[in-house]
Amino acid sequence: METGREKFGSNMAVILAMAGSAVGLGNIWRFPYMVGECGGATFILAYIIFGILISLPLFFAESIIGRRGRSNSFGSLRKLAPGTPWKWVGLATIIGCFIIISYYSVVGGWSIDYLLRSCIGGFSIEDPESTISLFDKMSSSVWEPIICHTLFLGATALIVKFGIKKGIESFTKKTMPLLFLLMIAIAVYSLCLPGAGEGVRYLVKFNLSDLNPTTLAYALGQSFFSMSLGVGSILIYSSYMSGDDNIGKTGLFTMIFDTLFALIAAFAIMPAVFSAGLEPDGGPSLVFSTLPYVFAKMGANAMFLSRIITIFFFLAILCAAITSSISLFEVVASFLVEELGWKRKKASIISFVGQWTLGVLCSLSFGVLGNFKIMGRTIFSFCDSFTSNFVMTLGALAFAIFVGWKMSKEDVRDEFTNHGTKNCKIFNTVYFITKFVVPVMIVTIFVTNLVL
Ligand code: PHE
Repeated sequence: METGREKFGSNMAVILAMAGSAVGLGNIWRFPYMVGECGGATFILAYIIFGILISLPLFFAESIIGRRGRSNSFGSLRKLAPGTPWKWVGLATIIGCFIIISYYSVVGGWSIDYLLRSCIGGFSIEDPESTISLFDKMSSSVWEPIICHTLFLGATALIVKFGIKKGIESFTKKTMPLLFLLMIAIAVYSLCLPGAGEGVRYLVKFNLSDLNPTTLAYALGQSFFSMSLGVGSILIYSSYMSGDDNIGKTGLFTMIFDTLFALIAAFAIMPAVFSAGLEPDGGPSLVFSTLPYVFAKMGANAMFLSRIITIFFFLAILCAAITSSISLFEVVASFLVEELGWKRKKASIISFVGQWTLGVLCSLSFGVLGNFKIMGRTIFSFCDSFTSNFVMTLGALAFAIFVGWKMSKEDVRDEFTNHGTKNCKIFNTVYFITKFVVPVMIVTIFVTNLVL
């Protein structure tokens, strides 16, 4: 059953690859601005609770399906529930991945652009408006973001083309430690800035009035996005795990790394924003338009240091983004390889072309296609909100229902406990949560948010 399929080299390699998937733009780009928009500490607290209570069991559920099915989402669900429509749910998650990577690689492209800019000329310290307008000008132009998007997606496709061990494993093993060091350096710098305390207070001040269904729904969506859940990325990586690897340990470590990173990013960014006297609710462009100014201004007396920190920052975003985008790309590529019998190279090239095209439309929606709206949103914003609020939530719900209600409890136990040798003590609790608590919570939060 497992013959011919590549596997990761060790459990450590699996954990690094999973953490690489989880830690991404979601942590450094999305989390800080969502914290800024959704009321600081309240959002963070909801995010952490959902992480432990919902995302972790869901991670286990995806892992169980992937390792038991030893295939992509479509193939695994088909094998585990033959003759049922479940495989189409798998296909829907693959399409979700396709959409995510298209807009994800546009933002990944911006990070290449900003990395180059910070190496060449740095950013203006005149006033925040100048870096904001620089970002608007760059993102709304035609060629510059498209070229960077092409570079980013091309690099992703190339890594995936090399396969699991030589491509994904060897890249994530080198990149993740570097990423960790970069973020720590930035956080230390940021916390030492004058006035940083204000930003820290914002991140730890709990305000009950911020607690509303929208905050909860956003925190849940962010938790899924950040843990790469609901679209089959964790599922496909788990399908390359060895039978001895520990699903419980892998999920726990991935969640710890992911949460830690999100917090470090928030503590690296908010203090810097406050110390420059700016508002925290800069939205999606926060890290691209506000931060370059903040770092440049703060470093007016120490130009060299501030330049290095800015380079570190965009390099960190790039590393984080690419280790995640390979996990998205692999979902689509593995489907083409396993279901259509294509060679990895052909699958990588064809996925690249499709995702590149949708990505170009997303990129242009910041400029010439700005007036083209789908349900009142630009193409980029539609792809983002459709996938994170809808596809991921429903995908996650479907995976939980599959493990809790469709698979037999014995099969689930067998896979989660490695045939009764690991995690036996926590199995019943995890199973109960997956079967009852997770679906009820997802549906409640999803519906409340839709209705209110
Ligand atoms: N978890 C990634 C991030 O935080 C994004 C992602 C979503 C990756 C879904 C894979 C699957 O940026």
